[in-house]
Amino acid sequence: MNAFLHMLAVTGARHDNARRGRSALATPIWRILAAAMAVALFALFAGSAHAEDGYDLWLRYRPLPAQQAAAYRSHASQLVFGAASPTQTVTRQELLRGLGGLLGRAPAVSDSVTRDGAILIGTPASSPLIQHLQLDTRSLGKEGYLIRSVVVDGHPATAIVGNSDVGALYGAFRFLRLLQTAQSIEHLDLHDAPRLKLRVLDHWDYLNGQVERGYAGASIWDWWKLPDWRDPRYTDYARANASIGINGTVVNNVNAGAEILTPRYLQKVAALADVFRPYGIRVYISARFSAPMEIGGLKTADPLDPQVRQWWRNKADEIYKLIPDFGGFLVKANSEGQPGPQDYKRTHADGANMLADALAPHGGVVMWRTFVYSPSNEDRAKQAYDEFKPLDGQFRPNVLLQTKNGPIDFQPREPFSPLFGAMPKTPMMMELEITKEYLGFATHLVYLGPLFEEVLRADTMTHGKGSTVAKVIEGSLDGQTLTGMAGVANIGTDRNWCGSIFNQANWYVFGRLAWNPDLSSRAIAEEWVRMTFSNDDAFIHPVVDMMMGSREAAVDYMTPLGLHHQMGPGHHYGPAPWDASEARADWRPVYYNRADRNGIGFDRTRSGSDAVDQYAPPVAAQFNDVKQTPENLLLWFHHVPWDYRMRSGHTLWYELVAHYTQGVEDVKQMRQTWARLDGYIDPQRYQQTAAFLAIQEKEAQWWRDACIAYFQSKSGLPLPAGFAPPQHSLQYYESLKFDNVPGFSAW
Ligand code: GCU
Repeated sequence: MNAFLHMLAVTGARHDNARRGRSALATPIWRILAAAMAVALFALFAGSAHAEDGYDLWLRYRPLPAQQAAAYRSHASQLVFGAASPTQTVTRQELLRGLGGLLGRAPAVSDSVTRDGAILIGTPASSPLIQHLQLDTRSLGKEGYLIRSVVVDGHPATAIVGNSDVGALYGAFRFLRLLQTAQSIEHLDLHDAPRLKLRVLDHWDYLNGQVERGYAGASIWDWWKLPDWRDPRYTDYARANASIGINGTVVNNVNAGAEILTPRYLQKVAALADVFRPYGIRVYISARFSAPMEIGGLKTADPLDPQVRQWWRNKADEIYKLIPDFGGFLVKANSEGQPGPQDYKRTHADGANMLADALAPHGGVVMWRTFVYSPSNEDRAKQAYDEFKPLDGQFRPNVLLQTKNGPIDFQPREPFSPLFGAMPKTPMMMELEITKEYLGFATHLVYLGPLFEEVLRADTMTHGKGSTVAKVIEGSLDGQTLTGMAGVANIGTDRNWCGSIFNQANWYVFGRLAWNPDLSSRAIAEEWVRMTFSNDDAFIHPVVDMMMGSREAAVDYMTPLGLHHQMGPGHHYGPAPWDASEARADWRPVYYNRADRNGIGFDRTRSGSDAVDQYAPPVAAQFNDVKQTPENLLLWFHHVPWDYRMRSGHTLWYELVAHYTQGVEDVKQMRQTWARLDGYIDPQRYQQTAAFLAIQEKEAQWWRDACIAYFQSKSGLPLPAGFAPPQHSLQYYESLKFDNVPGFSAW
């Protein structure tokens, strides 16, 4: 028996035993049937060589158990559409594919309701049948939907309705999700609408196919063959995004070249836009600020120069001729060597407004990044606030400031950026990093939901208690209507898109939280596990628990207690707390840990860099006081002696070692949990995850040991009793060198 058949037999036995008791399989006829089924399934899967390679993401649509499928089928007998717009067409395709896969039989398509169990999809404007239902769609806005059980011409039916076709498409995906997650579809009365306007993926993709900080292969955009060849993968990308409400994609890296703005490349971007349009997804471009010089032949890129301004206006006109629904520009300016308005002694507002003026007549926006810092600043964490806060109120209405969740750079744990809440007159957009640049690349199983949730729920206190970051970016705190969230994509040409199956959950949770920042990361994890793997509780619960604990495990083995930026220089792989080799001080781990004989941590209190006073007074007071600062951010805000007493009663040195050790223990636990789940899912995805967890354990141990070895060399203290010493010497860890690290091309 080959491995695949063996798995089917094992899985079949496990499920059957659970449901019917042990004796059933003992009957010879069942044995024969089980074997026949196994052979049939094998034949089915053999036809598709990549059956469970993760390509299908959470849209797997594998057949549901027979009883469940039968119950659902009576509510999905017919699909009734109104007008055949491109979006309605893809909605129909998705429902046929989804229902056909899940229920084993695709419903009939019709333009009238002729039997019980029809599904009506569309808008009141495009479907007289829906209009006749007189549903109240006012709360749905442009992109929301409702799903309601109704009666049409005497037949019980389900209406999936939006004010736009895209709203109805989102509703169709929600309907499919109900089936995928084993929910009832009787007596439905659901409605939902996105809380944020722009829900965008940022691809850090170069035109040569490399992906900066990408750990899932090359760029999925085949620029060379575009616009003539539109890889079917673009459509699957759009489907996946639409299924979670993502409505924008920035196709090139923020470290941008000007070439993408040339006619040749704009044709290629337009081809992508054509594929994405039916799915409600707009394309955006990262614009290089100096493009007027590089491809426009101008002598300057000064944003107040009339010729420069005209050049951008012409460029915008040219783009919109090709892409009428073009979203706008994302800009990284005067940051890490990128050109920008400060090169001409102008402000970020001058730069952003120039581009905003060019885009405004067409309805486009500028997403201007606040990720700025210069080596001369006394504390990198302060700089974005210092530069941008004074500009509040100076930006055009179609400019959003795109701000990373924390003040430094996507670390395993950071406090929220003090810019959230500090710029009430400016639309503030959050940037999260979905790709795990600082969290173990492709292989570590780290579910980012809790990290995202932590920052969204953080209280800025700018309007008293309850002024959460979520409310800032939703616009409700300061009355902003242009709102958004961006996620740095973790997508590449790997068959599984994201470098690992569990990394898909990070794409998923980003989309779901961009749709509604108040959702719980645990609930989203469960939804994802059900859709991606199984509706079996015995599998779901341990996996969701494992995912929920995984981020804290990574914090523990990498940067516990508020430590940050301790990774290897440049490529960011592995630990290097000793490193002082980088040209810039603020790129060196030693700049951040400041470990010496007396203690460890970055003093950002009033007696240090005073970064604390960038927060609202109650938050500043909390962070300024070592006793009130949450211990998980202790070393972010304070330089404390090694013998500092923690709340546990132990010394800081003890707790530091304990946290590092706990991180490794947690990963061991994750491996054990996974080992117990062998047989619940297909061997392909099971085994890859098991192998990656083994890598994670090895690397967690490396992080722990290297960091303890280094900090011990500073503290001069013996290892607390009961903790194993590092496996190697500090010199050994320091001697490790890495070339050809993925995602890094020494820019
Ligand atoms: C980090 C990352 C860079 C990236 C930068 C940014 O520093 O390492 O690769 O360009 O963030 O967000 O612009």
